[in-house]
Amino acid sequence: MILVFLGPPGCGKGTQAQYLCEKEDFFHLSTGQALRTEIEAQSPLGIRIQDTMASGNYVDDETILELVEKNIAQLKVKNVLFDGFPRTLDQARSFEKLLDRQGKKVGIVAYFSLSDEVLVERIVGRFNCVRCGRVYHDKNNRPLVDNVCDICGGTQFARRDDDTAESLKQRLEKYYESTRLLVDYYKEKKVLVEIDAGQTLDNVTKQLMKTLEPRLSDDKE
Ligand code: AP5
Repeated sequence: MILVFLGPPGCGKGTQAQYLCEKEDFFHLSTGQALRTEIEAQSPLGIRIQDTMASGNYVDDETILELVEKNIAQLKVKNVLFDGFPRTLDQARSFEKLLDRQGKKVGIVAYFSLSDEVLVERIVGRFNCVRCGRVYHDKNNRPLVDNVCDICGGTQFARRDDDTAESLKQRLEKYYESTRLLVDYYKEKKVLVEIDAGQTLDNVTKQLMKTLEPRLSDDKE
């Protein structure tokens, strides 16, 4: 299944992606994470995009599509989760062509809806494990033992460069200007499922699994 997580910054896409991949056999492609990896490595691409990302602007469509093609070129797995891609209509149309060439199409687009006020609170409180990337929150989602990652035992945590109030304002503007349009685009294609992302972590996971489980068991038969 080709699954897409669509929604504003901080709505919980990355967190739910981590939970889903622990339970089900999905290859998880987060374009945001792939870009951060390029920046950490200070590759030519990373150097070129680091200011754009820190300011909360979108990276150009051509770069994103190259990155996606590179990541899925050799992929043999059945289930792929695209987290934060596509984000513009052009990306969505090019994505369709790319999948078409492989005889595939988007199965489900999970749209995480959430109010702006809650998004700000989630972004401001977010931190992650430096070693494995596990996402936490100051209030809502702390590690079970303070300063120790639940998953890998790492003890170093960091906050993202683009999690500032100014950058978030820009990310939200970009979201409403470009990405929000994809809700209607995928609604028309009858693949959109709305998830109420304002609920607790467990309840969001339950809504998501209720949508996915019938499709995953169909695919296994
Ligand atoms: P990306 O990394 O994709 O960031 P984003 O879309 O802004 O989303 P976030 O990662 O900020 O939030 P999330 O929805 O994953 O929330 P999370 O689970 O962490 O992209 C970053 C940048 O890369 C973009 O701005 C752009 O520059 C570039 N980029 C990437 N893809 C691109 C593309 N296709 N085209 C162009 N440019 C692209 O949760 C947030 C916090 O809330 C966490 O602390 C978590 O613990 C907490 N939380 C989550 N769910 C709940 C809940 N239900 N209840 C309580 N707390 C919760």
